[in-house]
Amino acid sequence: METAKLIIRGKEYDLPIIVGTENETAIDIRKLRDTAGVITYDPGFANTGACRSAITYIDGDKGVLRYRGYPIEELAGKLRFSSAAYLMIYGRIPTEDEFLEWRKQLTLNSFVHASQVNFFDNFSALAHPMNILGSMVSSMSSFYPYDADDEDHINLNIQRLIGQVKTIAAFSYRKSVGLPYIYPRTDHSYAANFLRMMFATPAEEYVVPKMMENALDMLLILHMDHEQNCSTSTVRMVSSTMSNIYASVSAGINALWGRLHGGANEAVLDMLNQIAQDGANYMKYVEMAKKKDDPFKLMGFGHRVYRNFDPRAKILKTAVDDLLNEMGIHDPLLDVAKNLEEVALKDEFFIERKLYPNVDFYSGILYRALGIPTEMFTVLFAIGRMPGWIAHWMEMRDDPDLRIQRPRQIYVGKNLRHYEAED
Ligand code: SDX
Repeated sequence: METAKLIIRGKEYDLPIIVGTENETAIDIRKLRDTAGVITYDPGFANTGACRSAITYIDGDKGVLRYRGYPIEELAGKLRFSSAAYLMIYGRIPTEDEFLEWRKQLTLNSFVHASQVNFFDNFSALAHPMNILGSMVSSMSSFYPYDADDEDHINLNIQRLIGQVKTIAAFSYRKSVGLPYIYPRTDHSYAANFLRMMFATPAEEYVVPKMMENALDMLLILHMDHEQNCSTSTVRMVSSTMSNIYASVSAGINALWGRLHGGANEAVLDMLNQIAQDGANYMKYVEMAKKKDDPFKLMGFGHRVYRNFDPRAKILKTAVDDLLNEMGIHDPLLDVAKNLEEVALKDEFFIERKLYPNVDFYSGILYRALGIPTEMFTVLFAIGRMPGWIAHWMEMRDDPDLRIQRPRQIYVGKNLRHYEAED
């Protein structure tokens, strides 16, 4: 067995080396504290592997992203989202019969529980759709209790989660604009159902434009998983306590909401609008983003793992041009985004720190072209990410290394002192 040698205060320790299928190499420190009496320190876990996983592979230096071994470029725009979701969760692409049955079950199980629909009447009118989504998914555990050891129960609740996340999203939008709810149909794809539930009127037939259905399919697939990102790690953290799938995924939704994570797509649109209204003064904003004491960051730029182009951003940049041309739309914010990208990528600060556009930089322009309101962008991210969260929840259940996740710390507080009551 290959080992790493650690010398601490003159004493040597041999630590096993673990190598992954793509030759990713890790030092196994599971016995470090017991043998050497020390721990490692890695705030943000940038250098720490939390698990072994067979779901997604990323090579941040080469800009590679694969789901179950398939390059993202061979899936996005080629498969239906529900077919890719099946691959993500069950590890293989479904046969045509399996796909049709799976898609039908996703639709039949996508009706929000009749008692739960009333919840929409009681959220604050100011409630952010991510707040509604997280609350509704968490409360699903009270409507659908299940036996965690029963595979049929697990698969039924997986279908409910993937099916109902889009219904909850669409209903929260319809409620916010005072429109009646539209219900899904088994003769529509997942993406077509969502767009119909968002924009149809009960007064007449609504035909979902194929180019919009295809664009949304591709968008959802691009967001489906990203190995141990913050929200997925949150799902794993909560799942490690044996909490139910709804509570675990709801925690992931709340982690995704943050503007440094999934909330960035909404923040990118706000930033592009701010720059557009400020005379498109790109250099001013690039300079602001470089200042340590200025909280402004170029939203949609930078990534913990990618030190090259985010492959999703490359696909999205092309898809935005194609869809807007096909729809005959000219979105001035796309020009702002492209010019900002060009200026930033020539700037030494961004070059030195290997800061490139990430998945959130162009996705908002596409959502806008589909008619999705800005405050729903992160909800769309959550809809796409749902199969990934579920796949990680499933993988954890069978992980022989599974332990409750409980990091250690370096204490820097007061030394022992005693309380002396005043006379
Ligand atoms: C997602 O992890 C995933 O996989 C996430 C995700 C997924 O699919 O799940 O890919 C989705 O969350 C994409 C990221 C969306 N967030 C944003 O676009 C927000 C803007 N980006 C930054 O906040 C930042 O780049 C992060 C949060 C994405 C990454 O943060 P890191 O890895 O902790 O990097 P860092 O903050 O330590 O930055 C390193 C340096 C710093 O400068 P110095 O201290 O070296 O001088 O780069 C600078 C940072 O100030 N920097 C930026 C910047 N991002 C990093 N400076 C200006 N603008 C930025 N966007």
